[in-house]
Amino acid sequence: MVSMSKIATGNGHGENSPYFDGWKAYETNPFHAIDRPDGVIQMGLAENQLCFEFIKKWLMEHPEASLCTPEGVGKFKETALFQDYHGMPEFRQAVAKFMGKVRGDRVKFDPDRVVMSGGATGAHEMVAFCLADPGEALLVPTPYYPGFDRDLRWRTGVELVPVICESSNNFQITRNALEAAYEKAEEDNLRVKGLLITNPSNPLGTIMDRDTLKSIVRFINEKNIHLIGDEIYAATVFKDPEFVSISEVIEEVECNRDLIHIVYSLSKDMGFPGFRVGIVYSYNDAVVNCARKMSSYGLVSSQTQHLIATMLNDDDFVDNFIVESKDQLSKRHKYFTWSLSQVGIGSLKSNGGLFIWMDLRKLLKEKTFDGEMDLWRVIINEVKLNVSPGSSFHCHEPGWFRVCFANMEDSTMEVALSRIRTFILKNNEAIVPLKLCRRSSLKLSLPRSLSRRMDDFMSPTGIMSPHSPLPQSPLVRART
Ligand SMILES: Cc1ncc(COP(=O)(O)O)c(C=O)c1O
Repeated sequence: MVSMSKIATGNGHGENSPYFDGWKAYETNPFHAIDRPDGVIQMGLAENQLCFEFIKKWLMEHPEASLCTPEGVGKFKETALFQDYHGMPEFRQAVAKFMGKVRGDRVKFDPDRVVMSGGATGAHEMVAFCLADPGEALLVPTPYYPGFDRDLRWRTGVELVPVICESSNNFQITRNALEAAYEKAEEDNLRVKGLLITNPSNPLGTIMDRDTLKSIVRFINEKNIHLIGDEIYAATVFKDPEFVSISEVIEEVECNRDLIHIVYSLSKDMGFPGFRVGIVYSYNDAVVNCARKMSSYGLVSSQTQHLIATMLNDDDFVDNFIVESKDQLSKRHKYFTWSLSQVGIGSLKSNGGLFIWMDLRKLLKEKTFDGEMDLWRVIINEVKLNVSPGSSFHCHEPGWFRVCFANMEDSTMEVALSRIRTFILKNNEAIVPLKLCRRSSLKLSLPRSLSRRMDDFMSPTGIMSPHSPLPQSPLVRART
């Protein structure tokens, strides 16, 4: 066989992870309400699908935003020919304005610092390439998005060093944890070039408070290392306290701005991961210049730039969209967490993101990562839900799972919830509140016994909740 490069044939992509295995399980047997009612429900995909009707309405009212309509075709030729790696001025301006609006207009972004990339994925690689040489390291608080292992490391040769955060303080980043990770890297002869934070957090759905952000800025400034702030979930914060961006904090804390870089994208806040609109926003001129040259590898298509520029320059649309999106996410989150709490499942308190960080520690037979994987296999193979185990996010405590809630229709969510409910009540008395245990006797006669409390079964929106008899659940069907 003709040999290939080490980098191409190595495991740098990080695909050997349950995070991706779960996706494969879903892809081989995807749930469909009619065609595959016993299929796997995808709850491992952080997509924001709750506002598409709202967006569709705008598209219908603005045919000029498309190049394939009589109103838009006049711009077809110039757009098809456009290839400047700076990006269209109106696109950069629209994105800069949107970034400001998402942060409550408390900060302004300069369109000349907006650098395009293929999604946040490309943006992270760009930043890592600009800031660190192969073998140098970036600190990353855990748990963190598994894609970072690929995006920041694979082609750049940069190392990631975990900053261990724990459930005892709700996984907050502390100065001690940062110092410990820094020292560990030094012991391992790794030169630390920066710290990467994700705020709002994937997978936690939490945001960092102003004091934590200030202490982080002081830390990186003292160590003279870079700070990369992944803020791609900024507009998903649906409940107080409000999101605070690193761009606000650097106006309050003295620091060297050359060290500050923001990664942004429209994949989560707008729900457009397919458009691959990623942004590096750096306060460092040299980084802007280098990243701009690298843009050529991952330009956003000019057709997409045209559409996004038209859409995001419509102030009324953007203002209403931000409100609508938060409202939808808030309702979904509330109902989802409430439904889980009815069967005794807790999750980390959160107010953003497209997921919850579900606490299944009580369900582990063994409080180890093997125990976590055993439980995960049952959830994917028997309950038929693709949720992602905490270990794939480098969480240091077994028993946490990330569950996405905004990538499906209400009816699919009901099926997912009914499966979870059935599984929990069947399998574990420890986690179920006593009042439910007594009533249910934890057998699959459960729906009838539970039907005594109809108010338990209704969602806040009046939809029948998963607590209703569960005809959709394969587990129920297997027993009846
Ligand atoms: C924290 C974080 N950063 C980056 C990405 C990649 O986003 P994009 O689709 O814009 O490449 C994701 C995707 O899930 C993410 O959660």
